[in-house]
Amino acid sequence: MESEARTLEMVFPEHTNPLGNAFGGFVLGLMDKVGSYAAARRAQKPVVTVAVGRVEFKVPIRAGDLLEVVARVERVGRTSLTVQVEVFKERFGGGAATRALATHGELVYVAIDERGRPTRVDG
Ligand SMILES: CC(C)(COP(=O)(O)OP(=O)(O)OC[C@H]1O[C@@H](n2cnc3c(N)ncnc32)[C@H](O)[C@@H]1OP(=O)(O)O)[C@@H](O)C(=O)NCCC(=O)NCCS
Repeated sequence: MESEARTLEMVFPEHTNPLGNAFGGFVLGLMDKVGSYAAARRAQKPVVTVAVGRVEFKVPIRAGDLLEVVARVERVGRTSLTVQVEVFKERFGGGAATRALATHGELVYVAIDERGRPTRVDG
């Protein structure tokens, strides 16, 4: 069963602070979105975010960076799914593109039924 998801997103000036660095919330939002796709793919059911674990911003992300967000389900519980999310940044210009792991973290999702109650994913 598919348990990965990935997407590409360009950082525009509106995603940055006056120093030109991306807002953490913008990056977290991408991580949550792509993480939920991986969890829903694995669960084959809708999911909601129940917890965001430690997230580290290792290097600055700037306007003009292309972000690749990669999410993988690492653990399947009874109703929950734990997803590792990595954000790589690529920058072009001046010759070869550079690529670096910019941010990573762990998010936990719960599969829900039509009433919004946790539903099993381990069966
Ligand atoms: C997610 C939600 C449905 C869970 O309901 P609940 O009654 O707390 O569910 P439970 O206590 O039965 O826990 C369900 C699963 O979540 C896990 N879980 C709950 N809180 C957790 C936390 N803080 N960290 C990690 N896992 C957690 C439990 O361990 C359990 O996992 P398992 O079934 O795999 O063993 C409910 O808390 C909710 O609706 N939260 C809001 C979700 C939301 O709106 N998210 C968007 C963010 S704005």
